[in-house]
Amino acid sequence: MLTLKKVSRHFGGLAAVNNVSFQVQSNQIVGLIGPNGAGKTTLLNLISGLDRATQGEIIFKDLTIQHLMPHRINSLGIARTYQNIRLFSEMSVLENVVVGLHCSGRASLFEAALWLPTYRNEEKHLKDQAMSLLQRLGLEEYASSPADALSYGLQRRVEIARALATHPALLLLDEPTAGMNAAETARLGDLILSLREEGLTVLVIEHDMAFITQVCDQVVVLNFGEVISQGTPEQIKTDDLVVQAYLGTEE
Ligand SMILES: Nc1ncnc2c1ncn2[C@@H]1O[C@H](COP(=O)(O)OP(=O)(O)OP(=O)(O)O)[C@@H](O)[C@H]1O
Ligand SMILES: [Mg+2]
Repeated sequence: MLTLKKVSRHFGGLAAVNNVSFQVQSNQIVGLIGPNGAGKTTLLNLISGLDRATQGEIIFKDLTIQHLMPHRINSLGIARTYQNIRLFSEMSVLENVVVGLHCSGRASLFEAALWLPTYRNEEKHLKDQAMSLLQRLGLEEYASSPADALSYGLQRRVEIARALATHPALLLLDEPTAGMNAAETARLGDLILSLREEGLTVLVIEHDMAFITQVCDQVVVLNFGEVISQGTPEQIKTDDLVVQAYLGTEE
């Protein structure tokens, strides 16, 4: 579904991502791990079009996407969440998800501006859809709260709801469990597994190894911008290079 071929992103003399190649197979959950500064977020930015690779090729469903704009990449079926949460803080939780749905809406801006029936009907339809996504994520009781009134853990779930609203085939998550307690983290793991049951493919950056082990089929390990290991969670846990570079730093 997603192929990276020798992808690099250099910032001046710094190789934040260096010659990275790997594949994400359809309907798999792939973990992207590595120490702080390893280049994980930069890589997600390249895939989602927020940043440009200095070298290499990114292929999604047979299309070369590394020159496309973020909204175009989103419309092809890639959605993401952010390490630094990017919600509209003063808008309600429901409105934040409706914003995501607007990307896939049919009413034109013209219809919306004139408040024509097509738009009004669609607005109602979008709100219903957003509400069912909130239910799916256990957020219905917060629908009318301003987004910034929620805990970080809950805000991360709102971001996932907003990303899902665009009907992605591939979901990119940047540290989705940050700010979540153990119960919330386990619940998120279950949610991601259930999304996979429905056909979604997921690439998830995460530091929590228990979470990685719970949900991931494959794991790619980055260190100083380079892939130093890949395999199943069990395989990478016993890889000496990984233990030195990453797991060793946790002890
Ligand atoms: N816009 C930028 N300009 C210059 N350097 C950058 C830029 N963005 C990232 N970097 C550098 O690239 C490297 C990789 O950063 P990145 O944020 O991708 O790491 P990460 O693996 O996501 O780390 P963390 O676990 O802390 O989130 C770091 O050294 C960072 O300082
Ligand atoms: Mg990061």
